[in-house]
Amino acid sequence: MTIKEIQEEILRLKKENNICILAHSYVAKEIQEVADFTGDSYALSVKAKGTDAKTVIMCGVRFMAETAKILSPEKTVYLANSTAGCPMAEQMEKETIEAVKNMYPDYAVVAYINTTAALKTVCDVCVTSSQAVEIVKKMPEKNILFIPDCNLGDFVKKQLPEKNFMLLSGGCPTHAKINESEVIRAKEAHPDALFLVHPECRPDVVKHADFVGSTTGIMNYAKKSDKKEFIIGTEISILELLQYECPDKNFYPLSKDLICSNMKATTLVDLYKTVKGEGGEEIILDEETIKNARKCIDKMIELGE
Ligand code: 13P
Ligand code: SF4
Repeated sequence: MTIKEIQEEILRLKKENNICILAHSYVAKEIQEVADFTGDSYALSVKAKGTDAKTVIMCGVRFMAETAKILSPEKTVYLANSTAGCPMAEQMEKETIEAVKNMYPDYAVVAYINTTAALKTVCDVCVTSSQAVEIVKKMPEKNILFIPDCNLGDFVKKQLPEKNFMLLSGGCPTHAKINESEVIRAKEAHPDALFLVHPECRPDVVKHADFVGSTTGIMNYAKKSDKKEFIIGTEISILELLQYECPDKNFYPLSKDLICSNMKATTLVDLYKTVKGEGGEEIILDEETIKNARKCIDKMIELGE
């Protein structure tokens, strides 16, 4: 079968079986083309909550499928490729955070959405990169324990000097491996380009940015800008999507290493098998985990609106 034929079959089967396909902007383009919705982590959470479909297939990583299940426990939720995890989401154990909470009871725990369902059960509110500053700003608590991404935490901390932040050392291996010298090299090679960066990058990278935002934030900024050249400091898919959508502009990668192998793990064939009921992994979470993890996701959506 050709890619086109597989895509047509996926479209036919998802309509026939009332399936909603959600795809993160980092996954392969041929998957995004057949998805009902594509976007960043926040937008995917909101869509997962709002869809009428009885089955949701997440093309992204495990925490995204778990978030969809937590928000729609009555639906059947599949992760299209069961090996697609986010290493950052696995970095902190629930027990570690419970111990830190006991030591610092006056700190509210803010969890990046890139966390396991189990860890979310002991957090006060979730955030995504697109909403983190606004949400933490709206929180009544002054003392904030921000987990697990210390780079995103540092970015939020710098925007909100009125709060006290405690950061633990965690982060995205894909974004955090980029260093300042790569920024300097990219800017020297493209002196007229604006530098757009994801806040999962290290502070010495982020400090050079003309714009800091989520994947969708970066895309919207580049599309609306009058400027013609941009250095893209996030996963390579965003550069490819932008170049495709804005052929009159030029996009340069901050680094060719900005590839998340987990986001690339899902193939169109994985999705096809899942739509046919022959693949993917059904996300099963116990009622207690769903109930307790949901509080901090609902709070994110409430404060993020
Ligand atoms: P956003 O989708 O919130 O930009 O986050 C990027 C990411 O790394 C997802 O895992
Ligand atoms: Fe996780 Fe980073 Fe990949 Fe996003 S880009 S899924 S944070 S490893």
